[in-house]
Amino acid sequence: MRPRSFVLRSGRMSAAQKRSYRALYSRWCIPFGNGALDFEKIFGNRNPVTAEIGFGMGESTALAASENPGVNYVGVEVYKAGIGKLLWEIDRRGLANIRIIEHDAAEVVEHMIGAASLDAFHIFFPDPWPKKRHHKRRLLALPFTGLLAAGLKSGGYISFATDWEDYAVWALGELSRTAGLVNPYGEGFAPRPAWRPETKFERKGIAKGRQIRELYFIRS
Ligand SMILES: C[S@@+](CC[C@H](N)C(=O)[O-])C[C@H]1O[C@@H](n2cnc3c(N)ncnc32)[C@H](O)[C@@H]1O
Repeated sequence: MRPRSFVLRSGRMSAAQKRSYRALYSRWCIPFGNGALDFEKIFGNRNPVTAEIGFGMGESTALAASENPGVNYVGVEVYKAGIGKLLWEIDRRGLANIRIIEHDAAEVVEHMIGAASLDAFHIFFPDPWPKKRHHKRRLLALPFTGLLAAGLKSGGYISFATDWEDYAVWALGELSRTAGLVNPYGEGFAPRPAWRPETKFERKGIAKGRQIRELYFIRS
């Protein structure tokens, strides 16, 4: 079994996050299970579906969903406070196009995402695991990238951003060696997509003077 890409944070949940988690979980969250998700049934439409892995506090997910009502979003996260916050945002903004799965994304992708069923994966500022002995915890690595590729429709994409140069170079190598994925930017990094909302961890990286790197790969 591969080591987990996260350590469960015990960060305190605010009273509002707790309330939202209790009141809204069953309405907007999909329990982990075996078997490919039927997105048409879940969302009640045939709109494109984007999965966001590790949405953190979910501000950028809520923003993207409110700006793109014709796109469905499935957010996968293990951080309870962040899930509570996104549930609160879903309620506050009246969003009908987000669902949340509270579980390890490695297992969600393996067991719940059917072949060629998604239009995009968004992975923004995943935990960088900078120490060499922890590199095996990095999420964006083979063979997991092969599962991401398998879950994408032809023409679907993976958008990845990080403020850790070393992880950026690593992820570029892993995605480049993943069968079925093509880098439209030759062998290099992508420009920042105009549509990508700024995230909390991005702001932290910029404040520390780090360069933001983007990767964009298309399912051939
Ligand atoms: C560094 S934070 C970035 C959060 C957000 N994307 C942002 O840019 O602000 C990484 C997040 O990924 C989540 N995460 C890491 N590995 C995960 C996994 N295997 N499954 C689900 N969530 C994961 C962590 O709980 C954490 O909230």
